[in-house]
Amino acid sequence: MPEMLRTSPNIIITGTPGVGKTTHCQQLAQNSGLHHLDVNAVVRQHNIGESSNDPDDPNTKIVDEDRLLDCIENDLEEGGQIIDWHACDLFPPSMIDLCCVIRCDNQMLYDRLKQRNYDDKKLQENMDCEIMEVLLQEARDAYDEEMVVELRSESTEDIDSNVQRLESWIKQWRKDHGKEEAADVEAKGGEGKKDEDDPMFLHG
Ligand SMILES: Nc1ncnc2c1ncn2[C@@H]1O[C@H](COP(=O)(O)OP(=O)(O)O)[C@@H](O)[C@H]1O
Ligand SMILES: [Mg+2]
Repeated sequence: MPEMLRTSPNIIITGTPGVGKTTHCQQLAQNSGLHHLDVNAVVRQHNIGESSNDPDDPNTKIVDEDRLLDCIENDLEEGGQIIDWHACDLFPPSMIDLCCVIRCDNQMLYDRLKQRNYDDKKLQENMDCEIMEVLLQEARDAYDEEMVVELRSESTEDIDSNVQRLESWIKQWRKDHGKEEAADVEAKGGEGKKDEDDPMFLHG
């Protein structure tokens, strides 16, 4: 195992389209200084999305995941990435420190997707995805239980409190990994981390 070089954690923000991933990533990036890794933009920039062969669904892009990983590998190694994408199991667990699955009330999600002018088929597919908890299950299958956190995004208060929790979690991660403020921990007697000290799991 090569030594972990990243000085800041890599955090996945995943969930069904429309739940609030990008909104969370933008606010967290602004507050924490970490980088919003907008995977949609990477796919566009590197032209790694192929149009689907399904004649009913010509707008859906199939992303070449190997090429996507090649494009972002250096960023992940460097660390400090907030990954904004509606899938998570392609990212190797060794590169990931936390996986947040954003959730939203079904009716609210329906209204948000309607506002985006999704056609009926795409709308139904995405509603099914949320109702069946597809992304939550994908996250639980891909990563250790303690790395997966479910966050609701239904009000602006939700966004504020989720982002605050994440900021505290980032600070704690840096301390735990001796990347920052390590001297502070030493000064307090270098106590080991207790579960109740972990801000991600206080309320969840
Ligand atoms: N917690 C929230 N409160 C109010 N509006 C929200 C909340 N989360 C998301 N939204 C709104 O829902 C829409 C979809 O959010 P977005 O962040 O683009 O989702 P995603 O990136 O998951 O597709 C946007 O119009 C956004 O403003
Ligand atoms: Mg988005």
